[in-house]
Amino acid sequence: MAKDKTIYTCNACGGTSPKWLGKCPHCGEWNTLEETIAEPAGSGKNRFQALAKSSPVSTLADIEAADVERTPTGLDELDRVLGGGIVEGGVVLIGGDPGIGKSTLLLQAVDALSRQMKVLYVTGEESGAQVALRSRRLSLDGKQVRVQAEIQLERILATLETEQPAFCVIDSIQTLYSDQLSSAPGSVAQVRECAAHLTRTAKASGCTMVLVGHVTKEGALAGPRVLEHIVDTVLYFEGDTHSSFRLVRAIKNRFGAVNEIGVFAMTDKGLKGVTNPSAIFLSTHSEPVPGSCVLVTLEGTRPLLVEIQALVDSGGPSPRRLSVGLERDRLAMLLAVLHRHAGVACSDQDVFVNAVGGVRISEPAADLAVLLAIQSSLRGKALPRGFIAFGEVGLAGEVRPAPRGQERLKEAGKLGFSVAIVPKANAPKKPIEGLIIHAVERVEQAIELLRGL
Ligand code: TYD
Ligand code: MG
Repeated sequence: MAKDKTIYTCNACGGTSPKWLGKCPHCGEWNTLEETIAEPAGSGKNRFQALAKSSPVSTLADIEAADVERTPTGLDELDRVLGGGIVEGGVVLIGGDPGIGKSTLLLQAVDALSRQMKVLYVTGEESGAQVALRSRRLSLDGKQVRVQAEIQLERILATLETEQPAFCVIDSIQTLYSDQLSSAPGSVAQVRECAAHLTRTAKASGCTMVLVGHVTKEGALAGPRVLEHIVDTVLYFEGDTHSSFRLVRAIKNRFGAVNEIGVFAMTDKGLKGVTNPSAIFLSTHSEPVPGSCVLVTLEGTRPLLVEIQALVDSGGPSPRRLSVGLERDRLAMLLAVLHRHAGVACSDQDVFVNAVGGVRISEPAADLAVLLAIQSSLRGKALPRGFIAFGEVGLAGEVRPAPRGQERLKEAGKLGFSVAIVPKANAPKKPIEGLIIHAVERVEQAIELLRGL
């Protein structure tokens, strides 16, 4: 096959150059030129005229909008994040650290789906034998799972053409390369080109496509991030590879709600869905310890109880602020609020905070729990047994309500928690059995309350 001509396009200004340059000749930015395939001849003005003739414009009211049909994968927790199941022609990107369980989950999904549709599993990272071995270990039946070990895009596209699967997994997008580009597999240009081709194929054939992508610790330039706008759904795996729990979070979904999560446990028989995950991120202390506060966070439709830990320790001249699973900038802000409004100073102390179990918490309702954990560590005094907190903290020191506070409190009550500090607007009208609720409006009130508890 003749090679298409390639040009170099600046990703800052869109200018092009026939050869690679360190500095864009158009906008002067450094290191922004990337290899792309040149538009074939006949493009430009004529192409638009041709398009205009062939595709009529209609009003939204005239377009028949059928609800998208979903096919459940058979893995309930995966269906939950997908918004009910897979959609015909939908393209899903699954990202996550290496070794977290992407291949395992997709092999299970492929096997479950193979009973109702034609499936294809393209493996670029492992050999067919390795996949077969994994499938045996997972005790999957695998009779109808078609596997192809291939990394060249054109050959994969040809296979898709002949096999006509209804569900196809590409594991992983970083291993693929297209003959059309000379850059190495895994480079931004290759990843983007391959994904764009596969997406077009999915839309044209109605095949549901799942692309696996690795995220490296550095945020990975060539990682799945560059693909997020091309695909319909983006799922990310979270969790600590050392613990057995894994979260799958939807961060974009054209066919459903985002911020729904699926919870799995890694067992020796693969990933098993956890239907009632509310208590899995609590560590078990026989006695309450200083620096630990349980937060009730709301993930999608389900409340989750997560232990927030803080350690405040005397630091050097430039004390450190470190957070795992929570935003570091938010931590700096909270420390400033704590100092300014509650008079608690940590300016000469190292402050570390951690969300137990490798969960990532992005909702601001975690603020109050973080502050209380820090205060508890600073004083060296544990919070009372069965204590929970949630609420957003503002720069003015106010404690703002969290969405769906009632549900959070009910879940905590169900799990046997007995004391809570919550924002005033979240205080329930009717008492919740077994739960003593202290409602606060300001940070200093919450800190004052702690002293008395
Ligand atoms: P894998 O799916 O290969 O990760 P990824 O594709 O995201 O890189 O998961 C590999 C890890 O899962 C590996 O460390 C072993 C573990 N594992 C189990 O604990 N039980 C199992 O049944 C399987 C198949 C894997
Ligand atoms: Mg893998």
